[in-house]
Amino acid sequence: MTKVSPRKSTVLKDKLIMLAENQPQSWGQVGNNARPNLHGLLRYPAMMVPKMQGDIIDTLLSTVASDSHIIDPFVGSGTIMTEALIRGLNFTGVDINPLAALVCNAKLAIDSGADVEQASNNALKAFLSDTSTAIDADYPNRDKWFSDENAIIFSRVRRAIIATPGHGERSVLWAVFAELVRLCSNSRTTTYKLHIRKPEDIVNKEKIVSTLKALLKDTLGRIAEYRSIVETSEHTRPIANIICGDIRTANLQYSNKNHKILVTSPPYGDNQTTIPYGQFSFLALRWIPNADLPEGWNPSILSNTCSIDSASLGGSLIDAAFKQDQMLGISPSFERFVKEAAAAKKTKEIRKVSSFIFDFHKALTHIKSGTNSSSHWVLTTGNRTVAGLVVPFNDICKDIVNSLHGECITSIERDLPTKRMPSRNSQGAMITTETTMIAEFS
Ligand SMILES: C[S@@+](CC[C@H](N)C(=O)[O-])C[C@H]1O[C@@H](n2cnc3c(N)ncnc32)[C@H](O)[C@@H]1O
Repeated sequence: MTKVSPRKSTVLKDKLIMLAENQPQSWGQVGNNARPNLHGLLRYPAMMVPKMQGDIIDTLLSTVASDSHIIDPFVGSGTIMTEALIRGLNFTGVDINPLAALVCNAKLAIDSGADVEQASNNALKAFLSDTSTAIDADYPNRDKWFSDENAIIFSRVRRAIIATPGHGERSVLWAVFAELVRLCSNSRTTTYKLHIRKPEDIVNKEKIVSTLKALLKDTLGRIAEYRSIVETSEHTRPIANIICGDIRTANLQYSNKNHKILVTSPPYGDNQTTIPYGQFSFLALRWIPNADLPEGWNPSILSNTCSIDSASLGGSLIDAAFKQDQMLGISPSFERFVKEAAAAKKTKEIRKVSSFIFDFHKALTHIKSGTNSSSHWVLTTGNRTVAGLVVPFNDICKDIVNSLHGECITSIERDLPTKRMPSRNSQGAMITTETTMIAEFS
């Protein structure tokens, strides 16, 4: 078990401050260049900046054990996982959203050598020779999101993937399928909520076929790029584990031998009023057969378009007043916010915030209780606005970390070029800065 001596922690603080003061331009890059290799497999909402998080991990590794175990309890599309794998570090990731866990499993399959090229070529051939007009998806409102004509094409893609041997190969093809759904369903790509496209923006079947071909080609290019990175590295291939489930109760079975580095960007509030990860994922998930969804997924989570978001942190208003009371003693910043809301007669409007903060605290407490060894936590968060009031989430995170006996070493602020957070529809303002807090538990 590695402990960080006070001297080492001062060295770490100095290095982090230096990094914060000399932020490389690449941290502000957007588009394809900012998401190289496996990072660009699926455009998942609110993805982290890989280069920035990688630089922070490297800075930590320069002062703690180089065989540290990386954890991302809100793993999403696996930005941190990919950065851990590239560095040969063992990894544990958790996400309640089966699509997130599936995409992470696809990336792990690529790391383990899945023959995606052959699988992709065969699947494309099978798809192009399929002339059936059967529609293989049946769920309420299917025809709203996929016209019959387009659903026939998606069904052919689906059959081609189902016929592909190899679970790992299929998971990569399902990730491509999810990106195809994102780009070609009748839901807009400009919002994460399910929102019907304007008639002139509806994608036709020829466009679905050309998009599929382009995505398969792009994926193979990304895999080649990733493999060239890991093949030339001196690291032995690490072990990674993805848990599809709720972080508040997940069975985190990592070994307590190694130093742990938790690196994550949690949701900033409940999914419904921040980013509806569940709605974003719903259409793709409803096409994927249950057997190909990640182990541990909960069937009730796909019962309707809101069920993933309701099951996520802050998704339930039950006992909101009790949850608020519980958090007052833990976070002085939250207490000040609640008083401010009361003075502005906005107590009712902030109930979801209280529920979310309670759930978030529960999640961090559960994670902490599963980690006996020394650890560092790297939390990237932001302050959103609810009912005209700024939610001091960055400070609330610090309070929670303190309550768990962690110590904030420093924070790195980054201006956001284009982070898409809802504004008008959640009565909130755009988040323009994000804060990465680095804390230490010894
Ligand atoms: C900001 S996103 C993470 C994005 C990720 N860092 C990336 O780069 O792709 C937050 C994630 O938290 C997940 N989440 C929300 N509530 C959760 C819960 N109770 N347990 C586990 N994951 C949860 C969401 O599904 C979402 O994928």
